[in-house]
Amino acid sequence: MIEEIKKVELELKEHLSNLRSKEDLENFRNTFLVKKGKIQQLFDRMRELPKEEKPLIGKLLNELRSFAENEFKELSEKIHHLQKKETKIDLTLPGRVDYIGHRHPIYQTMERMVQIFVDLGFNVAEGPDIEDEYHNFDALNFPPDHPARDMQDTFFIKSEKKLLLRTHTSPVQIRVMHSMKPPIRYIMPGRVYRNEAISARSLAEFHQIEGLYINYNVTFAELKGTMIEFSRRMFGENLRFRFRPSFFPFTEPSAELDISCFLCNGKGCRVCKHTGWLEIAGCGMVHPNVLKAGGIDPEEFTGYAFGLGIERVAMLLTGIDDIRKFYENDLRVLFQF
Ligand code: DAH
Repeated sequence: MIEEIKKVELELKEHLSNLRSKEDLENFRNTFLVKKGKIQQLFDRMRELPKEEKPLIGKLLNELRSFAENEFKELSEKIHHLQKKETKIDLTLPGRVDYIGHRHPIYQTMERMVQIFVDLGFNVAEGPDIEDEYHNFDALNFPPDHPARDMQDTFFIKSEKKLLLRTHTSPVQIRVMHSMKPPIRYIMPGRVYRNEAISARSLAEFHQIEGLYINYNVTFAELKGTMIEFSRRMFGENLRFRFRPSFFPFTEPSAELDISCFLCNGKGCRVCKHTGWLEIAGCGMVHPNVLKAGGIDPEEFTGYAFGLGIERVAMLLTGIDDIRKFYENDLRVLFQF
């Protein structure tokens, strides 16, 4: 009997050393561990043994059975684990991409615009987003009852009657004038706020670049030259220009600048609304009242100023026709630029 137990034990170990798969494992169980398996068969034969041999054989068989059961348990876990791991690796999946962050298209546009003006000799200044009525309106020659001051356009700060979110970058003109003497040649980029309904064309937060040049005998011709040179560098050499008379409280005379549509070459397309022209800036000669508010003598100095919308330029350059797309943070959009 002992011989036979040894034989089964050897056979069992042989099985174990060749065991590779779930099927092998099942096979092992069916051979040794089930009710009609080889171990139980040995147990069954204990009945035939003389009494005095029973304890020893019983002990050996019990040992063999727990050995087999333990091995079975361990190997099942191992194989289960391995298979789980295997099914986790799907070689057909696309690889993971490590995204490297980059500047937002609005800031890229702003930086290009700023760089062009810097190349033209402008310095860069910034002012606060939270402004007061004096810098945002009064000093810029807005009459007290001007509609732009209306609660509907301006975000006033509740607790402080005179504080508001700046509605344009023009108040930085006043801050620059107060901080230095002419000649002054500055651009002032920044974020501005208006209480406007959000649509494909407008947001309540957007960006502008303000320009200001003050010196002796500054003329409208210099303003035109600067705007034309900027536009050529930004949008291309072969543009035509149109300075349309306009009105702003802080400039006199005032104009709006149109450039011929660089997408259709002025023939008319969806972007220029079939007019052949794109409006890109407001500008004019600094109003004497504004110079005075800035502490500069309008009898001695003259100046020009301009304001450009950055989102507008970014839309033209990227072909994005809904301004909201810039701020939805959809990486499929942002990673194209
Ligand atoms: N501040 C004006 C706006 O937000 C834009 C503008 C127009 C600025 C003419 C200027 C200017 O400096 O001369 O609509």
